[in-house]
Amino acid sequence: MFNTIDDLEPGQRLLVRFDLNAPVEDGTVQDNRRFARHAETLRELLEAGHAVAVLAHQGRPGRDTFVSLEQHAEILADHLDRDVDFVADTFGEDALAAIDGLEGGEVLVLENARMCDEELPEEEPEVKADTEFVQTLATEFDAYVNDAYSAAHRSHASLVGFPRVMDAYAGRVMEQEYTANSSIQEREFDGTVTMALGGTKAEDLIPVIEGVDDTVDRFCLGGIVGELFLRAAGHDVGYDVEGTDFFDEQWDDQRETIERILEEYEDSLHLANDLAYEGEDDERAEVDVEGLEKETSYLDVGSDTAETYADLVCESEAVFVKGALGVFEDERFADGTVSVLEAIAETDCFSVVGGGDTSRAIEMYGLDEDDFGHVSIAGGAYVRALTGEPLVAVEVLEDAAE
Ligand code: 3PG
Ligand code: MG
Repeated sequence: MFNTIDDLEPGQRLLVRFDLNAPVEDGTVQDNRRFARHAETLRELLEAGHAVAVLAHQGRPGRDTFVSLEQHAEILADHLDRDVDFVADTFGEDALAAIDGLEGGEVLVLENARMCDEELPEEEPEVKADTEFVQTLATEFDAYVNDAYSAAHRSHASLVGFPRVMDAYAGRVMEQEYTANSSIQEREFDGTVTMALGGTKAEDLIPVIEGVDDTVDRFCLGGIVGELFLRAAGHDVGYDVEGTDFFDEQWDDQRETIERILEEYEDSLHLANDLAYEGEDDERAEVDVEGLEKETSYLDVGSDTAETYADLVCESEAVFVKGALGVFEDERFADGTVSVLEAIAETDCFSVVGGGDTSRAIEMYGLDEDDFGHVSIAGGAYVRALTGEPLVAVEVLEDAAE
């Protein structure tokens, strides 16, 4: 196990890694659940009198979402209702001068770690620990705190380098997410365990099915992935029509795997029997999958399917959700995703809802987070926890504690 911020000496100078990676629309960073959760860790550290420099990333070079963290500092300031300084530099002279001026109880956000060349290439922690990035910042602080559970599957400098060269602790989000997500692996259930699987990437979800098949008894499929499985089951859906490009490439790449999984897991896979689309007058319309010929894109599972999935949830002792069953951001197509979430909220099953985006449906549709066992802000790291794959940034924290 790792040390946590409960083990910190008082009044420390801390380098704190958050995961503030967020959607960016037309250059504007969108507030999400990650800010609220990390703001709580930050509040606790500042109230304890520590001086905090925040290290985080946004997007990847070459993408539209690759922007400065200046707006992230403002969003954090809103959550904390206090000033949060920002410096447009990560470990150069300007950053070091700003860090130098930090007093106890103050916070400074450093520039996007991915703007530094040494951050991204996936390399061993020892290699990352040796970078100028890590070596320079390490000497400025008493300790390193990693709160970025949702990025803990990445072997990047800011995530795995520091615990090799300085005292390292897990922040509150790291601690809570790690405990909740890894307990899934160790937990045993007497009753039925159901998993709702959706989203857009088949490649990500197939290893989940194979990885959790000891624990999960049945899978309810939806989203793009669900449609690809319907295609494998012989229905005339799951390919690109005008305006979509989600299907054909994935089908070419994943067809054999999808067909194999469908055969192997035949008894535990539930596929939609009806689908929803945008009909004339922009209303939600529905169609049965039997005998269907695809002419349009389907944006949700149909209401019959949504009801069946909700019933399956209600009979379960535990339910996991990964990925949305439809385009829930549009109210007309939220039925599948929200029916499953509502069924979880109404029954007292053990539940975990994962994926930064899927968890957004909880607040969008007025559900109460307290009705869920755990709502994870992680996507990739959550999937790895479900399948029992280790997280490299957690491993280095554990090594540091020894
Ligand atoms: C995420 O948002 O999933 C994490 O911050 C990791 O980001 P990445 O997928 O770009 O590495
Ligand atoms: Mg991601």
